[in-house]
Amino acid sequence: MKALVLDELNKPPVCSEAPLPEAVEGKVNVRIKAAAMNHRDVWISKGMYPGIRQGVILGSDGAGVLDGKDVIINPSLDWGDDPRVQQKSYHILGLPTNGTFAEYVSVDRNKVFAKPAHLNFIEAAALPLAGLTAYRALFSRCGLKSGEKVLISGVGGGVALMACLFAVAAGAEVWVTSGSAWKIKKAQDLGAKGGVSYKDEAWDKTLLKETGGFDVIIDSAAGDGFATLVKVAAPAGRICFYGGTRGKINGLNPQLMFWKQISVFGSTMGNDAEFESMLDFVSEHKIVPVVDSVYSPEAVNEAFERMSKGLQFGKIVFTF
Ligand SMILES: NC(=O)c1ccc[n+]([C@@H]2O[C@H](COP(=O)([O-])OP(=O)(O)OC[C@H]3O[C@@H](n4cnc5c(N)ncnc54)[C@H](OP(=O)(O)O)[C@@H]3O)[C@@H](O)[C@H]2O)c1
Repeated sequence: MKALVLDELNKPPVCSEAPLPEAVEGKVNVRIKAAAMNHRDVWISKGMYPGIRQGVILGSDGAGVLDGKDVIINPSLDWGDDPRVQQKSYHILGLPTNGTFAEYVSVDRNKVFAKPAHLNFIEAAALPLAGLTAYRALFSRCGLKSGEKVLISGVGGGVALMACLFAVAAGAEVWVTSGSAWKIKKAQDLGAKGGVSYKDEAWDKTLLKETGGFDVIIDSAAGDGFATLVKVAAPAGRICFYGGTRGKINGLNPQLMFWKQISVFGSTMGNDAEFESMLDFVSEHKIVPVVDSVYSPEAVNEAFERMSKGLQFGKIVFTF
């Protein structure tokens, strides 16, 4: 079968022939129709992930066909029994287990779900990892309610954009930050009320003047900018972060945090029940993930370059 295989570090995976996955009891081989990229795939290819295995087939997100039915795969593996936190053996499809960038992927039968009927394979493939991460952050961790004010930082990110769509669908007033004015405009087209560039020095003052502060803030940048998120949080505000693109968090003001009764949550992907709830939410609100571009597996270099340079708005998808 055709697959994108990690052959050498610091290079995109190579489109090559790989053996079909073996038949294993309790597992099924899904015929992949579309598979979406995450930044994780780029970082793995650059050697910036623990447990890298040469020869692994990358890819966490996939939609395809099993026994004549259209399906979508939950890439969150081995979460365990505690819905609050994953167990030690928790991992994500696509490392160390062979992933979805192939014509077939082997997964546990209970990781396969009916594809939301309103989505085509490409749109459905764009959903799982980003959708699950955004869903847990917004609803399980922050308990978002209709009418609340939400700030999504760096809306050009895959998870951030999904969080924007979900928060709009939930009836929140959504504001965004981005490094690119055109991405803010696109987020507004998708229902966000407004946004500012995080590159403007006074972006927090501008947002505070316009909104009065945010009940929920979703972030994946962390770093020195995190302290500013505390400033734009409303009293009793909840801040959730699932990434650390800009590194360690410095300069937090404890007085500001305790006096405002701020809650800060770390979050990662989600458990099996959250994946099902996320699919139900997407079907109920007819949410369509934003797809930036679609590539053949042979064009893997172009796809990886597009994500490495942060040129995309929405998911980059391969079709098999
Ligand atoms: N824990 C989990 O389960 C999980 C799941 C998925 C991702 N992640 C992590 O989350 C992060 C983002 O992942 P992704 O796949 O969504 O990435 P991505 O699509 O590559 O997006 C990264 C985004 O970060 C934003 N950004 C850059 N500098 C920023 C700043 N100073 N302030 C705010 N935003 C800034 C950019 O937004 P603009 O383009 O709008 O400027 C960029 O699009 C990564 O650290 C990733 O490892 C974690």
